[in-house]
Amino acid sequence: MTTTPRPIALVTGASRGIGRAIAVDLGRTHHVIVQGRDQGALDALAAELPSATTWAAELTGDGALDGFLAAGPDGSLTTLDVLVHSAGVIGGSTVEATSRDEWRRVLEVNVVAVAEITRVALPALRAARGTVIVINSGAGFTSRGDGGVYAASKFAVRAFADALRQEERAHGVRVSSVHPGQVDTDMQREIQDSRGNAYQADKYLGASDIADAVRMVVDLPPRAVAEVVSVRPLALG
Ligand SMILES: NC(=O)c1ccc[n+]([C@@H]2O[C@H](COP(=O)([O-])OP(=O)(O)OC[C@H]3O[C@@H](n4cnc5c(N)ncnc54)[C@H](OP(=O)(O)O)[C@@H]3O)[C@@H](O)[C@H]2O)c1
Repeated sequence: MTTTPRPIALVTGASRGIGRAIAVDLGRTHHVIVQGRDQGALDALAAELPSATTWAAELTGDGALDGFLAAGPDGSLTTLDVLVHSAGVIGGSTVEATSRDEWRRVLEVNVVAVAEITRVALPALRAARGTVIVINSGAGFTSRGDGGVYAASKFAVRAFADALRQEERAHGVRVSSVHPGQVDTDMQREIQDSRGNAYQADKYLGASDIADAVRMVVDLPPRAVAEVVSVRPLALG
C-alpha cells in the first residue's frame, strides 16, 4: 500500500502561544515545520506531532533565513501548502519615549521577517498553490496612544498581505490576514503588565480559538479565500 505524503505547513513562532496552538492543530493533517528560537521547545513540540521538523532561527538580521529551505521533511522545501506567520513581538510605548532601535526591532520581526520568509518561500508556495496566513491583530486596524509602534507594524503587515494577495492570485496562492483580539499568551501578559492592568485570562480568547480560525481558512475550498478574519473575545468586544 502506498501512502500519500502529507501536505506541508510552516508555522513561525511555534515555540509558544498562538503559533504553538496552530502547529498542534495543523499537525493533525500536515507535516509541520515549527519555527522559534528555543530548540528545546521546538523539539518537545515536534515529538508531540505525527510528522514535524524544526527550524530554530532568530528572524532578525543577516543570515536569518539560513537553514530555512533545508527544514522540509526530506531536507528541502520544493512545495509548501501553508505558511503561517505567527512570530511577533510587542514593543515601544509613546512616540516620545520610543527609540529608533526599538522601532527597528519591532518592524524587523513583525514586518520585514514576514516579507522575507514569504519571498524565499514563494516558489514552493506557487508549486503547491498554497495559502499564506498572517497573524495580525486588532491593532492592524486601530492605533492607540502608547501602542503606535506595534500598531504601525500591524498596519504595515496588513498592507503587505493585501498587496501579496493581488500579486499571487494568478499563481493560485491564497493570502489571509487573521486579526485576533486579546489572547491568553505570554504576549498578552506582557501587555497587561506594562499597562498595570489585572490579567483577566477568563475573558480572553484561548490560543486554540485562533488555531480554529486558521483551520477554517486552510480548509476552505481552493477557489475561496478568507481575505480578512477578525476574531474577538465575546466578553470584551
Ligand atoms: N496574544 C495576543 O493577545 C495577540 C493578539 C493579537 C495578535 N497577536 C499576534 O499573534 C502572534 C503570536 O503572538 P503570541 O501571543 O503567541 O506571542 P508569544 O506568546 O509572545 O510568542 C511569540 C512567538 O514569536 C517568536 N519570536 C518572537 N521574536 C522572535 C524573533 N526575533 N525571532 C524568531 N522568533 C521570534 C517567539 O519565539 P521564542 O519562543 O524563541 O521567543 C514565540 O514563538 C503575534 O504576531 C502577535 O502580534 C497576539
